[in-house]
Amino acid sequence: MKEQPVGFLDSGLGGLSVVKEVKKLLPRENIEYFADNLRQPYGEKSQPELVKYTLQIVNFLLKKKIKVCVIACNTATAASLTQAKNIFNIPIMGVIQPAVQDAIKNTSNNRVGVIATEFTTKNRAYPEEIKKIAPHIEVFTNFCPEFVPLVESGKLTDPETYTIAQIYLKPLKDAQIDTLILGCSHYSFLKKVISKIMGPEVILIDPAISTSLILKEILSQKENIKEEGKSEENYYTTGSPEKVERTAKIILNNNNSKIKKVKLKELE
Ligand code: DGL
Repeated sequence: MKEQPVGFLDSGLGGLSVVKEVKKLLPRENIEYFADNLRQPYGEKSQPELVKYTLQIVNFLLKKKIKVCVIACNTATAASLTQAKNIFNIPIMGVIQPAVQDAIKNTSNNRVGVIATEFTTKNRAYPEEIKKIAPHIEVFTNFCPEFVPLVESGKLTDPETYTIAQIYLKPLKDAQIDTLILGCSHYSFLKKVISKIMGPEVILIDPAISTSLILKEILSQKENIKEEGKSEENYYTTGSPEKVERTAKIILNNNNSKIKKVKLKELE
């Protein structure tokens, strides 16, 4: 069981932010990562589409014998975590609950901001989750449609990225939040720009970090942490493997993993 890989899925490369944190805490785990680049952006899809895609990908990962599945995408978590948990009988975790717990712990003025995709924002996944635990916290949200294409093209600190981020973040700065959740896994790679704009007094909550800690807890409770041997990693994309490899190199600083192409037909 320990040798079985951990599965990750995202609409693209954003979920690599979660993999990056997991590798720091659990360096020997085998990894199966699925990036659905062809059907990106998930943030503009409907709930039924997102449920269909998530279930297809979890099924694909199950064939790789994963022991746990991390939906390393906030949009897919918001749309389909409940359905996926009901259908599959391996542990499945999302990225929203872990981030919410961290945000609640960190805020002092009870004003929390969330930036996310259009779907996650309109579905109110974050405000609802926060309300369940801490109804006194005021939540301010904004969606940032241009962030995902910027990350997917490796433009992490370009002047263009900075200008766009200033526009998206202005309402949250004006709301005087003291804690900001990066509610889309891609945004983790824009931390430098976001923290420069928000200033040092605003704490950034990265669901990638929160999720990796909870994953470690889950595996350790089940005495299922792989503690020996090298980590084997497999990456898949429905998009162009060459393009994904190029961007992965930029965002992960010289990542040399080979990406395998998966046709949508293989997911049916
Ligand atoms: N990275 C995803 C998320 O965490 C979605 C990005 C997209 O494809 O819109 O929400």
